[in-house]
Amino acid sequence: MLLDVRDLTTTFRTRRGTVRAVDRVSFSIERGTTLGFVGESGCGKSVTALSIMGLVPTPQGQIESGSIALTTKGTTRDLTALGPRSAEMRSIRGNEIAMVFQEPLSSLNPVLPVGHQISEALKLHRGLSKTEARSEVVRLLRDVGIPSPETTRRRFPHQLSGGMRQRVMIAMALSCHPSLLIADEPTTALDVTIQAQVLSIFRSIHEEREAALMFITHDLGVIARIADAVAVMYLGKVVEYAPVAELFAQPLHPYTVGLMDSVPSIAGPRKDRLLPIKGSVPEAGTVHRGCVFAERCAHVMDRCRESMPALVETAPGRTVACFLHADEAEDE
Ligand SMILES: Nc1ncnc2c1ncn2[C@@H]1O[C@H](COP(=O)(O)OP(=O)(O)OP(=O)(O)O)[C@@H](O)[C@H]1O
Ligand SMILES: [Mg+2]
Repeated sequence: MLLDVRDLTTTFRTRRGTVRAVDRVSFSIERGTTLGFVGESGCGKSVTALSIMGLVPTPQGQIESGSIALTTKGTTRDLTALGPRSAEMRSIRGNEIAMVFQEPLSSLNPVLPVGHQISEALKLHRGLSKTEARSEVVRLLRDVGIPSPETTRRRFPHQLSGGMRQRVMIAMALSCHPSLLIADEPTTALDVTIQAQVLSIFRSIHEEREAALMFITHDLGVIARIADAVAVMYLGKVVEYAPVAELFAQPLHPYTVGLMDSVPSIAGPRKDRLLPIKGSVPEAGTVHRGCVFAERCAHVMDRCRESMPALVETAPGRTVACFLHADEAEDE
């Protein structure tokens, strides 16, 4: 197993009290596979990714408990035990795990040509010479589908379209040959055609490089096209986890069912994409006695208001946190 996250809890101290942005989340990612994370805004997808990267904003945010085991080259390390700014964690960020952030502009330096930014990373992390780095930059830019890499490498970020910038970000993330690539909504800001191109770049990353991919999106359509397995998050918790085909064939959690119904289908009438499920996501600071989804659930029962259902296995590789399915699991 490349990455094994157990009971991860990440909190933020705010004026309104402590917010559990990620609440006892567990999942794992095998080499060469893609795990998709899906859920509405504010459910904790980015904070999960930042926790793995050791980039939770301090001092207000911290990993409160849990473990993040990364196994590379036969060695397993618990990333929560390493200081976020330690030399070891910096080396892991440069060489083992890379992230494509939600905001490509904010993560590129506006005053340096994009090729220069990638070659700096190559010189630093892979020890390439100036000439080696230059040809590697051209190769990487070509790999991510940039048509004229020789010209593009000399451009500044603001001279590129959103789609091109996103490709540059992917090239930069790939430059260190990471074992795990985390992509946080990498296609959201792009138009549909470019989205499809960027997705196919991510797909080819596996085939050619055997990197594992953690792909974050609020769009189930994107998940269907890229992921092997899916973790559905709601209010800091994973409420359902399943292989992608099984999730689409039979979603179990009422929240997942709601998300599916909100995906516009080509055949049927277009549904409202903005209000997939009645009500809205409560604030992360809210204290819940029962199930986090009870307020919005069409199938809510008395016991749902009493306690949060545990994540139970209903079939091999499938788990769900819902009392509607708790008995199925007990019967087996
Ligand atoms: N720096 C911070 N300080 C305080 N609270 C934060 C901070 N960053 C995130 N949070 C809170 O943590 C929760 C999870 O946020 P997160 O950014 O992970 O959501 P998300 O699922 O990535 O949403 P989106 O789809 O909008 O990107 C939210 O309630 C958010 O308000
Ligand atoms: Mg986010």
